[in-house]
Amino acid sequence: MTNAESTNPESTTPEPATPEPATPEPSGVGRRRFFQGAVGGVAVGALAAGGTAWGIGTRPTVTTATADDHDVVDLTARHPFYDQAHPPGVQTAPQRHAIVMTFDMLKGTTAADLKLLLARWTAAIAQLTQGKPIGQIQPAHPEALGQDTGEAAGLDPASLTITVGLGPGIFDGRFGLQDKRPALLKPLPALPSDSLSPSLTGGDLSLQVCADDPQVCYHAVRNLARMARDTVQTGWTVIGFGRASAGAGQQTPRNLLGFKDGTRNIKEPADFDEHVWLSDADWMTGGTYQVVRKIEMDIEIWDADRVSDQEQVFGRTKLEGAPLTGTKELDTPKFAAKDKAGTPVIDPTAHVALAAHENNGGVKILRRSYNYTDGINAYGQLDAGLLFVAYMNDPAHFIRLQTALGANDLLNEYITHVGSAIFAVPPTPKTGHYIGEQLFA
Ligand code: HEM
Repeated sequence: MTNAESTNPESTTPEPATPEPATPEPSGVGRRRFFQGAVGGVAVGALAAGGTAWGIGTRPTVTTATADDHDVVDLTARHPFYDQAHPPGVQTAPQRHAIVMTFDMLKGTTAADLKLLLARWTAAIAQLTQGKPIGQIQPAHPEALGQDTGEAAGLDPASLTITVGLGPGIFDGRFGLQDKRPALLKPLPALPSDSLSPSLTGGDLSLQVCADDPQVCYHAVRNLARMARDTVQTGWTVIGFGRASAGAGQQTPRNLLGFKDGTRNIKEPADFDEHVWLSDADWMTGGTYQVVRKIEMDIEIWDADRVSDQEQVFGRTKLEGAPLTGTKELDTPKFAAKDKAGTPVIDPTAHVALAAHENNGGVKILRRSYNYTDGINAYGQLDAGLLFVAYMNDPAHFIRLQTALGANDLLNEYITHVGSAIFAVPPTPKTGHYIGEQLFA
């Protein structure tokens, strides 16, 4: 099918995508299609060789990141969509760019409208993730509108994944779906240190769109929003970059506070089964819950803080990312360790001490966050933060962690949670079916 716009669950089913390999594979490896990681070798080499960007009189202390910190990106890689055990964009190794956009169903829309939207989105997602347009870019008739907006023509799939979420409002009675409410889906409660803006909160539907090319990302979210405009209004959105979480086999990236983020994240398949995927959950089996938070960072205040103090805030060293009780990034933190004066080496209110599973009854969540910037704020300061996205098989696990962090985290001096939403992420459809089809059975 070349035109997802024509997909209607009443009359047609989304056409199967061409079968794809289960894991993205490099193909036709051309040098120009590969990016190397964030740090340019030449400039960094010059600084590491003894120079300092701060000029004469500033003592160079430690060297910079090494070539080992670089991941290679293959823009030709693509992920299969239909017939997967779990929804995309969760266990998928995080791509470089992300957009989260929320939507609210328009007043007066019905279950039939929701069903049609999910079917059309499904068909379009199957096309987009394989690097194909959702319909004609160049219509035969000169008066006709293009079905696909065209800006991804000629671009590779760039590992695009699109993850659809259903908010609690979908099950509030407007669509007669109260009986289908995922068992643990309800709005998040007020949490300590919340400073949420109503315009950045909630949503009936969410799209998490991730790719290694920002234009591929934007094209996807734009076209999905465009084809939904008779059914939904857009809610809030965050455009993320520079993944701030590591997947299995990836180097640990850094957040905008300059620290490695994702070191102790969920990476093993067994941990996904235990902490992320839903089992015995009726039609949601194989799916998960998604929590999105827009977290502002006071990066200018942070930048004025001593690095040793920053390390106390996280309980880890800045460059290596080692726990303060160890020397290497992957050393296990020893939260009970004390120095000679009897003071805990990792402050009990350091971020990792409050968030660690050892101190939270074994609770773990998958963090799949991205950095974001909104440019400059009303005070002329750099406006940036973390697009925090987490997945878990019980939202109570996020609530437990954020209750502890929001109340006591040393990091709270530098961050503000301004946006928040929760969604249920249904399992991936089989070929010929669409996302959330079980809702309408
Ligand atoms: C702007 C906000 C945040 C920043 C900058 C941040 C940064 C970090 C960093 C640098 C680490 C240490 C490296 C690692 O193991 O990944 C970490 C760990 C962690 N963070 Fe955050 N984080 C933020 C918000 C949150 C939130 C909202 C939660 C959950 C409610 C959370 C949960 C965790 C967990 C579970 C760990 C692993 C702790 C461990 O097992 O050692 N973080 N975070």
